[in-house]
Amino acid sequence: MSVTIKSAREIELMRESCRLLEGIFSHLAGMIEPGISTWEIDREGEKEIRACGGVPNFLHYNGYPASICTSVNEEVVHGIPKKKTILKEGDIISLDAGLIYEGYHSDMARTFAVGQITPEAQKLMDVTRQSFFEGIRYARAGHHLHEISNAIGAYAESFGYGVVRDLVGHGIGTHLHEDPQIPNFIMKSRGIRLQPGMTLAVEPMISAGTWEVEWLDDDWTVVTADNSLAAHYENTILITEGDPEILTLSEDWKSLYWHTEPAAET
Ligand code: MF3
Ligand code: CO
Repeated sequence: MSVTIKSAREIELMRESCRLLEGIFSHLAGMIEPGISTWEIDREGEKEIRACGGVPNFLHYNGYPASICTSVNEEVVHGIPKKKTILKEGDIISLDAGLIYEGYHSDMARTFAVGQITPEAQKLMDVTRQSFFEGIRYARAGHHLHEISNAIGAYAESFGYGVVRDLVGHGIGTHLHEDPQIPNFIMKSRGIRLQPGMTLAVEPMISAGTWEVEWLDDDWTVVTADNSLAAHYENTILITEGDPEILTLSEDWKSLYWHTEPAAET
């Protein structure tokens, strides 16, 4: 499958899909506290996705059994919600979810603190989020895809963190995973030239220790090989002639986080 350029009508549907998804995340964020199970988060998430007219796109994707991926502490991504996984003070939890609205997919992820967390955990979360913003300085027409990858990777590595290589970001639209693949680490090749109308899910997955990951016996849950903490931050974005539109991030949040200057034209 080649990289698709979305029409004005498709972009409107992508915007709406992403706006609905961001609303669901705000709702789920309010549930995160010691004592809640990841199963309850998934149940509520699926209910809310359907209530707003969406369809959960992760549910049954390659056999994945839930709507919301819930990954705790050393779990990087694709953790499976369970009644017996109860959040406790000091945990960090990554939620990753998406939905389909009128045929168009959205995808986003955030890592949240459960109560009071250590400064080390907070820093990992902050750097992971900032690595996304460092990357999207290059998410502009005329730049090349791997400039995003290089900026994310260089920023995270400058803190001594591990950048996961086994999983990458992706194009998104009428399918959850479209071309191109979007690595978060430094690449020798330039990658494709970015064009207005491309919609991309950019999603750094960063470990406080090694970049190496392993799969648990459930064949889904990805954990850091050294059991260090991991964080995940993902948005669906739209390439335009100017600044990228961050479709899963409302203006309020964006003004809080987006301090980075756009990269120079190439
Ligand atoms: N959110 C993942 C991604 O960003 C996809 C999850 S697939 C699932 O690509 F099966 F785990 F749901
Ligand atoms: Co994704």
